[in-house]
Amino acid sequence: MSTPKLVLFDAYGTLFDVYSVSSTAEQIFPGQGARLSVLWRDKQIEYTRLRAMAGRYKPFWEITVDALQYSCEALKLNLTDERQHTLLNVYSSLPAYPENRAVLQDLKDRGIKTAILSNGNSEMLNVAVRSANFHNLLDAVLSVESLQTFKVHASVYQMGLDHFGVNASQALFVSSNCWDACGASWFGLPTLWVNRANLPLDRLDVSPAAIGRDLNDVMSLL
Ligand code: LAC
Repeated sequence: MSTPKLVLFDAYGTLFDVYSVSSTAEQIFPGQGARLSVLWRDKQIEYTRLRAMAGRYKPFWEITVDALQYSCEALKLNLTDERQHTLLNVYSSLPAYPENRAVLQDLKDRGIKTAILSNGNSEMLNVAVRSANFHNLLDAVLSVESLQTFKVHASVYQMGLDHFGVNASQALFVSSNCWDACGASWFGLPTLWVNRANLPLDRLDVSPAAIGRDLNDVMSLL
């Protein structure tokens, strides 16, 4: 892998910790916080796939609300308006993983372009980026919104390259979601899977070019 001109980052799970909602969920629904945060995430991603397949796009924020409501009903948790508001408020400004800022700064200092390439809609991404104070460290925040589909549709990864006028071999795609890393690899991008949760590799007949444990592993690929 040659030194990239551009590093594209997935947002949710990679830059922002989606499972951090489990502590608020645990306070609201004692004993169920972890289960709720996992089902919420799984349903959210499932809905993006179903909607992409059927051509029925809906902004990721609205899908996030749908997935929360489904998950609470499935787990028999009483999601009042106030509880929903509290959980969504946490979701709108998820904390960034601790090493991320230094990695983004280091890339910037080296003159390497950086961007988010995410299923999130622009508004929710911009709120999350501002809240993590990353806005000065990223050259672009690219949302699937303009394409009205979701990863792993090839057009999403292509959009990341087109925005910067580079080809796949000049870029690196980084995601903690194995399915996303595999999708980018299918597309032809050199990819780092940040395997934060020590999960097995998805069986999709493709392997990311590199596998790491946290965002610092980006630097070892330069
Ligand atoms: C994203 C989600 C899928 O940011 O993690 O694209």
